[in-house]
Amino acid sequence: MNREEILSYIEENKDRFLEELFDLLRIPSVSADPAYKGDVQKCAEVVKESLLKAGADMAEIHATAGHPIVYGERIMDPSKPTVLVYGHYDVQPADPVDLWDSPPFEPEVKDGKIYARGACDDKGQMYMHVKAFEYMEQSGTLPCNVKFMIEGEEEVGSSNLGIWVKENKEKLKADVILISDTSIIANDVPSITVGLRGLAYMEVEVTGPNKDLHSGVYGGAVGNPVNILCEMIASMEDENHHINIDGFYDDVEEVSTADRAEMAKAPFDINDFKKGLGINETRSENGYSPMEGTSIRPTLDVNGIWGGYIGEGAKTVLPSKAYAKISMRLVPFQDSKDISEKFERHFKKIAPPSVSVKVTAHHGGEPIVIPTDFPGYLAASKAMEETFGKKPIPERSGGSIPIVALFEKELGLKSILFGFGLNSDDIHSPNEHYGIFNYLKGIETIPLFYKHFTAVA
Ligand code: BES
Ligand code: MN
Ligand code: MN
Repeated sequence: MNREEILSYIEENKDRFLEELFDLLRIPSVSADPAYKGDVQKCAEVVKESLLKAGADMAEIHATAGHPIVYGERIMDPSKPTVLVYGHYDVQPADPVDLWDSPPFEPEVKDGKIYARGACDDKGQMYMHVKAFEYMEQSGTLPCNVKFMIEGEEEVGSSNLGIWVKENKEKLKADVILISDTSIIANDVPSITVGLRGLAYMEVEVTGPNKDLHSGVYGGAVGNPVNILCEMIASMEDENHHINIDGFYDDVEEVSTADRAEMAKAPFDINDFKKGLGINETRSENGYSPMEGTSIRPTLDVNGIWGGYIGEGAKTVLPSKAYAKISMRLVPFQDSKDISEKFERHFKKIAPPSVSVKVTAHHGGEPIVIPTDFPGYLAASKAMEETFGKKPIPERSGGSIPIVALFEKELGLKSILFGFGLNSDDIHSPNEHYGIFNYLKGIETIPLFYKHFTAVA
C-alpha cells in the first residue's frame, strides 16, 4: 500500500463513492423523532449491506430498546492488531426546514460541497471508513483486523449503545478505536482532536399562579414565572462570565500556562470567526481566549426557552408557567451527574418564594482527553502528515461524543478522533455540508493509518 495507489483507486471510483454516499443521505434517519423509526431501520440495513459489499466477513444488525446497532468485522489474521471503527448513521432533525437552500434529504453538490443533513455529521465521515476498507480489501493491502460498530442513537445520547458495549466486551476486543466525527482546523491545517467536552443537560419548569392571568388585573401583585426564570438564568453568570453555581468549578482542571501557550499556537483568525458568524464581538470568561472558551473551559447555555403567548399579535397575559432547556459543557475532571445535582440544588435554592420549580436531567456524558504519545496517535499523525503534507496539530474540541469516555471505561481502549470535517460545515444547522475534498481526503488517509498502526502496535 502506498499513497499513489490509494489516489489512483480514489480517482477511478470517486463518482461511485459519491453516489453511494448520496443514497445514504437520502434516507432521513432522524433518531430523535419516532416518525422516522422506519427510515432509521432502513439506514441500518443499507450500512450493513455496504460493509458486506466492501468485504466484511460478516455484518449484522443488533436490535436495541431504541434504534439498531450495525456490527461488522473482517478478521484477516487473529495474531494481527484490531482496529475498531465507531461512527453513527443517525442524524439531527432537519428543522427549521424552510431555512435550507435545498431539501435536506436530497443531496446536492454546490461549490465542491455536498449539502444534506448528515453529510458531515456523521454519514459522510462514517462512510469514508467503509470506502477505505473497500480499497484495502480490493487491493489486498488490509494489514490488520477491523471491526465496525455503527450506531443509530448518537444524536440522542447513545444510551442503548452503552448497554450493548457492556454486554459485548469480548466481541469488541480491539487495540484502538478509530472515529471520524470531529473537525480539522482548515483544509490546509490538519489537526487531530485530543479532547471532547462532557455534557449535562437540564430541563426546568417554573410555576407561578395556578392558571394564566390577565396581566393588567394581576400584574403588579403576582410574580411572572417567565420574568423570574430569566432572572434566575441571568444570575447564573457573573460579570466575569463565570458560572455562578455553587461548586461548579470544584473539579475543573486548571490547564498549565505552558499547555495554554502550546494550544495558542494553533492558527485562529478572530476576525474571520466573527465575520463568519455575523457577530461584532466575542464573549468569553474573563482571562480566557475564545478558543479556550470553546475547549478547556465549561459553559452554561440556554438551548430553548418558552412560556406565555408566542402567537401572532399581542395577547396580554401573565403566564402560569415558564420552561427552559439548559446545557452545560464540561471539562476534565467534572462529572455530569455531580454537575446535574449541583445545578438542581442551586436552581431550587435561588427560586424566589413566589414560584415553585421542577428540574429534570436529560442524557449527559463525560469529558475526555486523549494523549498524544501512544501508538494510535502517532500512527494517525503520520498518516495525516503524509496526505496533507503537514504534521497535524493536536487540538481540544468543544463538542461532545459521550460514548468515547464509556469506551475507555468499559473496553479499556483509547479512541483516535480522526475527523475531517470543518467547524464551518453547519452540522446540526440548516444547509449542513461536507467538502468533497474532505470526504476523499479521509478515504485517502485512513488506509495509511492502518498501515502505520499495524507497524507500531
Ligand atoms: N459529531 C458531533 C460532536 C462533535 C462535533 C465533536 C464537532 C467535535 C466537533 C456529535 O454528533 C454531536 O453532535 N454530539 C452532541 C452530543 C450528543 C449527546 C447529542 C453535541 O456535541 O452536542
Ligand atoms: Mn456526530
Ligand atoms: Mn451531531
